[in-house]
Amino acid sequence: MIFKQVPVGAVQNFSYIIGDESTKKAALVDPAWEVDKLLQMCSDMGLTVLYVINTHSHHDHVGGNDAVSRRTGAKVVAHVSSPVRKDIPVKDGDAIKVGEVSVEVIHTPGHCPDHTCLLFDGKLLTGDTLFVGECGRTDLAGGSAVEMYESLNKLLKLDDYIEVYPGHDYGSKKSSTIGYERQNNYTLKKRTREEFIQFMKEP
Ligand SMILES: [Fe+2]
Repeated sequence: MIFKQVPVGAVQNFSYIIGDESTKKAALVDPAWEVDKLLQMCSDMGLTVLYVINTHSHHDHVGGNDAVSRRTGAKVVAHVSSPVRKDIPVKDGDAIKVGEVSVEVIHTPGHCPDHTCLLFDGKLLTGDTLFVGECGRTDLAGGSAVEMYESLNKLLKLDDYIEVYPGHDYGSKKSSTIGYERQNNYTLKKRTREEFIQFMKEP
């Protein structure tokens, strides 16, 4: 498969290109910034963009949805509860086929209600749920520390070898693994739900 992590925009976002080597079909994940650059990269690799997939509806992840759709005909895939204009609403456990690559949707509310992580080929795109060394904030509209607790625990059920690719370049490196985060991420230390809620209130 083809996989690219692309640093974009003014607030250290990552967009991602998921492509299938054999059919040359592709999905663009969170194309909010530098749409020209992203589409040029796809065209350089001979990829046809079939889908825009959003991890969540915050503007720094969805700002280029319409431009990409207009220019490529790509269908917008987002969680059923997402307020963005979407062609394919998805929910937990659904899969999107990008050629031969199957992208599984894991609903992870907490940062916002419509947040999803995307799992394919041993890789997990974690959006603003999990960063390298951090978790997403829960104090924005629709955020919930209780839901974040459940969502992070859901991700921690994944195997240690699964690679973690976050929605922002906020950590000491650009990607890691579930095992690395389990060992090193202070937000994932063993806590009860109540301890986690209290922890998220601390500055
Ligand atoms: Fe966000």
